[in-house]
Amino acid sequence: MSVTILAIESSCDETAAAVCTDGVILSNIIAAQSVHEKYGGVVPELASRAHMQNIVPVVDQAIKAANISLQELNAIAFTQAPGLIGSLLVGTQFAKSLSLSLNIPLIGVHHMQAHVLANLIPEKRPSFPFLCLTVSGGHTQIVIAKSALELEVIGETIDDAAGEAFDKTAKLLGLPYPGGPLIDQYAKLGDPLKFKFAEPQIPELNFSFSGLKTSVLYFLQKQTPEFISENRNDLCASIQYTIVQILIKKLIKAVNQTNVKQICIAGGVSANSGLRSALIDLGQKKGWSVYIPDFSYCTDNAAMIAITGYHKYLHHQFVPLSINPSARAEW
Ligand code: KG4
Ligand code: ZN
Repeated sequence: MSVTILAIESSCDETAAAVCTDGVILSNIIAAQSVHEKYGGVVPELASRAHMQNIVPVVDQAIKAANISLQELNAIAFTQAPGLIGSLLVGTQFAKSLSLSLNIPLIGVHHMQAHVLANLIPEKRPSFPFLCLTVSGGHTQIVIAKSALELEVIGETIDDAAGEAFDKTAKLLGLPYPGGPLIDQYAKLGDPLKFKFAEPQIPELNFSFSGLKTSVLYFLQKQTPEFISENRNDLCASIQYTIVQILIKKLIKAVNQTNVKQICIAGGVSANSGLRSALIDLGQKKGWSVYIPDFSYCTDNAAMIAITGYHKYLHHQFVPLSINPSARAEW
């Protein structure tokens, strides 16, 4: 018997729904929320309201694009944690109602586990065990995956996430939110070694980005606006280079410690061209197998919730209707 799952993701500012059958993604729909642009960051209350408006049409589109009927669904998976609580509540309540009305099981998914398992979506996928560097706007982690459901965080940030480091330094340069993609774009035209910014010395496999942010701030405070605009490309290239170095050095350490050479990346920052090319180069130099999912599976999406839901379904990991979402949750 085949297993068809509808997945809902609403942890932050994207309302997303996807359908998968036996681990193959049939549809992956996403509604981004433009309402936050003018505030320079996500406004939680506005995000919840936009989820309320988007959820029915997004789920409807996901079902239609998958060319299935609701009656063919075997389970509903949803992002249970972590995220903005009001946003999570919208997806959770919707998933609960649908599971109740269709009388099918409910699967709660941890958003960060789903980012890692997005690497199981493409046909070319890693074998277990693999390491995953998850770099998003909210998290920076190195995870070892021993199986689809045995994931362990072996390193993480002690302050800002890598995405925040991009966005906050971009803001210091006067770039709009989210600045990560813009830094990437300008970095392509600049010299990564022109300016030197602080690289933290943090023990073990943990990360820190606050020192980099402060060193960029102090450097820019001494410059004129003309200097900043004239050197924009070199500043972006140098900032990006430093962030990528911080990430790559810890990844090399993780490989040396675990002797695992199947390497994946996940999260919005894995779209960064500097990080991608550094990983591909390292893979060639060190004999790692590097897996980089499609960008649409790297940023927040429901396909990753669907694939995680599928593996949980196979292991009968269901949650009761009394389940609550959680803004912060260990895994
Ligand atoms: O995973 P994601 O879509 O959302 C969550 O935070 O969960 O990640 C968003 C982050 C933002 O900080 C954004 O600036 C960053 O990913 N980002 C990038 C690039 N594309 C997105 N950072 C650097 N270079 C990029 N090309
Ligand atoms: Zn995410």
